[in-house]
Amino acid sequence: MWGILPHVNSKSGHKQKHLVLGVTGSIACYKAAELARFFMRRGFKVRVVMTKSATQFVSPLTFQALTGNPVAESFWDEGTRGNIGHIDLADWADVVVIAPATADCIAKMAFGFAESSLLAVVLATKAPVVIAPAMNVNMLEHPRTQENLDLLRCRGVAIVQPEAGALACGWTGSGRLASAPEIYAQTERVLGPGDLVGKRVVISAGPTREALDPVRYLSNRSSGKMGVALAREAYRRGAHVTLVHGPLGYKPVLPCEVVSRQTMTAEEMHQAVVHEVFDRGQSAQADIVIMAAAVADFRPAHPGESKIKKSSAPSSIELTPNIDIVRDLGERRGEKRRPYLVGFAVETDGEAALIREAQSKAVRKNVDIIVGNLANDAFEGNTNRCWIVDAQGGSIALNTASKRSIACSIWEEIVTRL
Ligand code: C5P
Repeated sequence: MWGILPHVNSKSGHKQKHLVLGVTGSIACYKAAELARFFMRRGFKVRVVMTKSATQFVSPLTFQALTGNPVAESFWDEGTRGNIGHIDLADWADVVVIAPATADCIAKMAFGFAESSLLAVVLATKAPVVIAPAMNVNMLEHPRTQENLDLLRCRGVAIVQPEAGALACGWTGSGRLASAPEIYAQTERVLGPGDLVGKRVVISAGPTREALDPVRYLSNRSSGKMGVALAREAYRRGAHVTLVHGPLGYKPVLPCEVVSRQTMTAEEMHQAVVHEVFDRGQSAQADIVIMAAAVADFRPAHPGESKIKKSSAPSSIELTPNIDIVRDLGERRGEKRRPYLVGFAVETDGEAALIREAQSKAVRKNVDIIVGNLANDAFEGNTNRCWIVDAQGGSIALNTASKRSIACSIWEEIVTRL
């Protein structure tokens, strides 16, 4: 036994992050009020800087009331300690998020203007900057705007792509402010540890579904939440992430850059995972694979082509084994032991039996670690309790915590072992 790892918990253990929210004069700036709340609910301290034109759309009082902090509007504002306002904000920020960012603001940022409080903060800050453009589709697609965005991207500014859809100006196309979860996910990524930057990660999640006939199937209680949490955490740490999932019954909330592939049966999941891990050319092969899916071990051997009638129902169902996906990956990677391979194990007979079984699985399936959990802890809920077990018999217990926090601890462990 190696003991117990404390969970990383951004709410309890960590210093509150300071976010300067820049709001510029787009019709979308009413959405910035909700965005400020969104960040505050997730533990950020928020201070707002508005441009003159933004104040035409929304009163600074709205942001002052929501954040509990005065709103910076003028270049000549004093700071909180009687110092220079924009330098005070620039130094206070752990991250600057400009949402919505207009074409005008983007152009002025690209060329280093400092005529407003917001532009001066951007120039003066040492914190990372995230911008979420929102504007008319033609303004967005204009070569000058695109060049300005490229310039900013090259200088390390994170750009949250606008969504496509009906725009306030009457046009349809790209230019709608990205959603609050998307802006949040990209902000968390720029603030993250970056220890998976450049890594390709493939994660499987959820159950599989094996047809008995066209209306019935065999499946299990897996919700896919653990795999989704692992995908979100990998993205936060900088990875390129592909999630291969079974039928979830909901649309997982994932950052736009996470590639999501829906499958149904174990066979479909096998094909999708092998393709993502090995068949994408040498440079795009996966570095780390986590098989968190609860893949059905068996499927009906002779699924009915039409609905089985009550009158002719069989008294038993013949089953045939499905391929063990993680074992196949373990065999394919062979001696190279690349990609790094993580399996899951769910058991029902208590901690000691779970750890024993997880260790034997790690050996049998040629994986690096197995994350073991008990069915009553793992299925459906938003929390989990796990043991990280390796082939040598070492184990780390992760106490009950949110699946997000458990995902963070699992990644911490993987990163130290890579
Ligand atoms: O043997 P068991 O099903 O308990 O192993 C669980 C682990 O194996 C999980 O990582 C699961 O995703 C994987 N698995 C698989 N293919 C199967 C069955 C399980 O990849 N057919």
